[in-house]
This record gives sequence, C-alpha cells and structure tokens, in this order.
Amino acid sequence: MLLFGQIGSGKTLLTQGLALGLQIESYVQSPTFTLVVEHEGQTADGQPVTLYHLDLYRIDDPGEIDTFGHEEYLDDPNGIVVIEWPERLGAVIPDEHLLITIEYLADTKRTLMFYPRGERYRERIAAFRKEVFGGNR
Ligand SMILES: Nc1ncnc2c1ncn2[C@@H]1O[C@H](COP(=O)(O)OP(=O)(O)OP(=O)(O)O)[C@@H](O)[C@H]1O
Ligand SMILES: [Mg+2]
Repeated sequence: MLLFGQIGSGKTLLTQGLALGLQIESYVQSPTFTLVVEHEGQTADGQPVTLYHLDLYRIDDPGEIDTFGHEEYLDDPNGIVVIEWPERLGAVIPDEHLLITIEYLADTKRTLMFYPRGERYRERIAAFRKEVFGGNR
C-alpha cells in the first residue's frame, strides 16, 4: 500500500487506523532508525497478519533502497506492506499495488483517493466500494 501525501497529511495516522483494525496494540510510529518496522496483528476472523511499515522520507541516496524488490516481506502471504513517501522508490515501485493519495483540506478533513493497480487490488476496491456505497456509486 503506497501512501502519497504532503508532510502532515495523515499517512501515519491512516496506518495507525489500519493497525487498529488488525488488533495491533502497539503505537505505530514512523520508523526512524530502521527502514521497516514490523507489527504482529490479526484479522477479525483470527488470521495472523504482519504489518510492515516503511517511511522513506529520509532516504536521499537511492542506493539505500537498491535491494528493494528483493525484500522477503514483499512475498509474505500474511503481510501488509505500507509505504510512506513511496516517491523515493523511483522505478522500483512494485507493479501491483494499492496507491492512496491523501490531501489535506482542513484540520479534521482529508480527501482520500484510491488507485488500485493489478487485478487483485481492483477486485478489492470494487468490493470495498460496493460495501460502502452499495449500488449508489
Ligand atoms: N484525518 C485526520 N483528521 C484529523 N487529524 C488528522 C488526520 N490525519 C492526520 N491528522 C493529524 O495530523 C498530524 C499529522 O499526521 P501524520 O503524522 O499521520 O502525517 P504524515 O502524513 O504521516 O506526516 P509525515 O509526512 O511527516 O510522515 C497528526 O497530528 C495527526 O493526528
Ligand atoms: Mg508519517
């Protein structure tokens, strides 16, 4: 899941909301000294899930993420990978992904746009849309 948005737009807070939904008790703070922080959680029906949280803001040397794409967490079938500042990845953004843009409107207002890439994410967003909007949108 790629989170695009200005500084302070709410990328980390959205990640925290996701963590809450996965019954993760720990506070999801942006990784500072490591590239990725792992949190163990579970779905509502008890399936284990690992949330991998990356914040690439401080990456200014693309060499630091040269290995990206070969990281084992990208292949974890029970994993969700959330990336703040995915712009820093440049060309190595995974082909299939869910991109979410967050736009600041006012103190407590944001616009979120969801852009699924690949069959898997298109299906999920279609199901989500149906659940939230019914046949109305
Ligand atoms: N939807 C929202 N409604 C109200 N407040 C919000 C919302 N989203 C974020 N905030 C508040 O805005 C501030 C910045 O949020 P957050 O740290 O999640 O931004 P960020 O996009 O991760 O920033 P950065 O680019 O620095 O990592 C926090 O105080 C947070 O509580
Ligand atoms: Mg953040």
